[in-house]
Amino acid sequence: MTLAIDSARLSSEIEALASISDAEPPAVTRIVFTPTDLKARAWLIERCKEAGLSVRQDAIGNTFARWNGSEPAAPAVGTGSHIDAIPNAGKYDGVVGVLGGLEAIRALQRDGFRPRNSVELLLLTSEEPTRFGIGCIGSRLLSGTLSPESARKLKDSEEKSMDEVRRAAGLAGELEEVQLPRGYYKAWVELHIEQGPMLEREKVPLGIVTKIAAPASSRISIEGAGGHAGGVLMPDRRDALCAASELILAVEDAARTSGSIDTVATVGICDVFPGAVNSIPSRVRLSLDVRDTDLARRDAAMQAVDHASQEISRKRNVSIRSELLNADAPADCAAVVVEALSRACEKHQLSSRRMISRAYHDSLFISRIAPVAMLFIPCRNGYSHRPDEYASPEDIARGTLVLAETLASLSA
Ligand code: GLV
Ligand code: MN
Ligand code: MN
Repeated sequence: MTLAIDSARLSSEIEALASISDAEPPAVTRIVFTPTDLKARAWLIERCKEAGLSVRQDAIGNTFARWNGSEPAAPAVGTGSHIDAIPNAGKYDGVVGVLGGLEAIRALQRDGFRPRNSVELLLLTSEEPTRFGIGCIGSRLLSGTLSPESARKLKDSEEKSMDEVRRAAGLAGELEEVQLPRGYYKAWVELHIEQGPMLEREKVPLGIVTKIAAPASSRISIEGAGGHAGGVLMPDRRDALCAASELILAVEDAARTSGSIDTVATVGICDVFPGAVNSIPSRVRLSLDVRDTDLARRDAAMQAVDHASQEISRKRNVSIRSELLNADAPADCAAVVVEALSRACEKHQLSSRRMISRAYHDSLFISRIAPVAMLFIPCRNGYSHRPDEYASPEDIARGTLVLAETLASLSA
């Protein structure tokens, strides 16, 4: 085979998708089920149809674009990712896996390849937690990791339920129909930017992911007492933001002192009420995101945060409540997919290294029902989740080439 990736077309499609956004360029914001997200999905579906793929959507909006194999009843080989983007994001997170997956299929078609197993490109719904507080909603439902009942109860910041929002987006059917049986996929492989600096630093063009770190997140709500910024004396205060500040530092400390560089913890949201210059903060809402490659150590860091909360609550006479949103186990990638990726790299004389994904991905959940692995490409300075996220057309084309080769070997 002489597989050729149309890098110019792929780059122009990445630009076209980035232009469907709610942020000023170069930033991209595409929150699930907004008109912008729906427009981006419709655009993508057209591209899939142009490639002769048959497209179906499930009740949560996971979109399956299938290239039928010569044995259509055999398990499919899946690839894909997400196109939703957090506020003020870049162009490449998720998108490289979706548009790269599409280009990989087109490259195989151009090359005259005929798959035995169907090859399926999958666009997964709401990988990002922005709107409903929890990420990977599509892949959690698809793998049975999130129950339809719990999914229906998820609410956005305007108290709109997920069920109401997805129905308003035109998605009929019941969430009970989303789960796929184990064995639906023979294998699954996701192409993604690294979102870290290792590949660039080591000048290795490709990373083969062997493990995906375990994420956990919660919402923390702190209630103190408000009042006049001039009138209430310091000894009488129960300032919720001062308590939050201590807690944020305790979160940092929990990760820094875990004993491993693999523990990371972030408070990314801090909503202060009432948010006035001359009013003591009475209420603060924080988000907590903790991850580790080791489940027990991740849980120990979460516990350290809980202990700090109790201590701060007692000392400052404020109430601190925590609602756990998710606490997922890590995933080991499957040898069969890791080895197929390695062979594909070798065939094209591209060097690669094995690595861990510290970010979570839909592959974490698809691993519950199928053998998975991921392929990483470098991104400049390791930047991601920011507008200057960048992956070069050459790196994207290399990743797409190896993806195509891997899909071919898994579906032959
Ligand atoms: C995915 O976007 C993550 O936060 O790891
Ligand atoms: Mn992301
Ligand atoms: Mn992503």
